[in-house]
Amino acid sequence: MSVVAVVGGQWGDEGKGKIVDMLAEKSNMVVRFSGGDNAGHTVVNPLGQFALKLVPSGIFYPRVACIMGNGMAINPAVLLEEMDSLKQRGIDLSRLYISDRANLIMPYHTLLDGLEEESRGGKAIGTTRKGIGPAFSDKIARLGIRAGDLLDKDGFHERLSRLLEYKNAIITKVFGAEPLSLDEVFQQYCEYGERLAQHICETTVMIADALERGDRVLMEGAQGALLDPDFGTYPFATSSSPLAGEASIGAGFGPTRIGSVIGVFKAYCSRVGAGPFPTELDDETGELIRERGHEYGTVTGRPRRCGWFDAVAARFTRRVNGCTGLAITRLDILDTFPRLKICTGYELDGQIIDNFPASVATLARCQPVYEELPGWQVSTSDIRQFEQLPREARQYVARLEELLSCPADIISVGSAREQTIVRRDIM
Ligand code: GDP
Ligand code: IMO
Ligand code: MG
Repeated sequence: MSVVAVVGGQWGDEGKGKIVDMLAEKSNMVVRFSGGDNAGHTVVNPLGQFALKLVPSGIFYPRVACIMGNGMAINPAVLLEEMDSLKQRGIDLSRLYISDRANLIMPYHTLLDGLEEESRGGKAIGTTRKGIGPAFSDKIARLGIRAGDLLDKDGFHERLSRLLEYKNAIITKVFGAEPLSLDEVFQQYCEYGERLAQHICETTVMIADALERGDRVLMEGAQGALLDPDFGTYPFATSSSPLAGEASIGAGFGPTRIGSVIGVFKAYCSRVGAGPFPTELDDETGELIRERGHEYGTVTGRPRRCGWFDAVAARFTRRVNGCTGLAITRLDILDTFPRLKICTGYELDGQIIDNFPASVATLARCQPVYEELPGWQVSTSDIRQFEQLPREARQYVARLEELLSCPADIISVGSAREQTIVRRDIM
């Protein structure tokens, strides 16, 4: 079997958690390959409602092995808290595996994320302040501490003392903040290491074995392509790649194994944090989408910025991801609108462009060009067959398929697992 990757096509929060939870029913393994606890993946299934930050969304099926891949940045304190809360709710975690190569988020990462954001003043990125940027920077600068390092206390102590001396110099001399104590950080992380030891292992072999056996492997993306450090609205981006290509690198198998890429897109757009957003609605329509959609961040509780579907951006992210199919989520949120708009081009300096600009300064000057479609104004949340959707809703989905040159294989009409229209078997 080839690998199926599920990735976000917009600015995150597209409903990846829901789609992965639903697809995991037919899979043997679910792997998270990027990001950290900046992610918040909501899953609503017969066991309840869960907001997962780090644990893969396949954890609710006793048969499914869940891997946290080398491409993630893991805050062990947050992970242990999440594991405790899942255990309390009766979820078995014996099949949770952590790559020994995954980088760890250290207390100086979260501290520096906050200090750096403060120092940017009005130019802040609006990060989740979870230490993501500093942790991935350290990984690339070869200054990281990895999950496997916790298993060798002497080696860990030596590395941490060197790193902390350097980090404390930045914390005190650049930011004038209080230094961190080596003893405290060391003791704390040794304790985390002891508690997590049974889960930390060489996960690339597990994935290779699964593929060899013909198991169904599902890759769970975090964030969305428009937050990618290369292709997103840089520098208003995150610090690991949310793209399908990263599924291979962030989990440790060859890219030729990826057979399908499902791009998850909301039926409209939302964004948390700063940065340009061409179709943003700063009016009562935007407010209505936010209220109907309860568009408040899972991680930070911040109100999400809302707007119409941006097909210029979506066509671009469909392409850089190589999507073979789309999952259109939250179609039901549009149920009450008499008319809907889709952005099909940008007007820039009097010209219409249909490519997504690299520069945020250019993007900020782009005015959306809209096409209007009729709304359907009936509830879609109980519909399970595409043919039973109102004609206008089918038209809306068909127009998205046409604009993105990609079939909408899945349409989601509610947060619960079963509130889904599946038009083609994915797994
Ligand atoms: P993720 O980060 O991509 O997993 O998405 P989030 O969980 O942060 O945000 C998506 C929100 O939409 C969650 O509250 C989901 O429960 C919810 N959701 C997912 N699909 C649908 C849908 O089709 N309709 C509605 N109404 N809610 C949905
Ligand atoms: P999921 O997986 C939405 C955004 C932050 C900020 C920018 C950089 O739930 O879709 P970071 O903390 O990563 O350095 O912040 O990226 N961001 C997300 N927005 N969903 C997410 O994850 C996000 N992860 C990061 O709001 O704008
Ligand atoms: Mg989310």
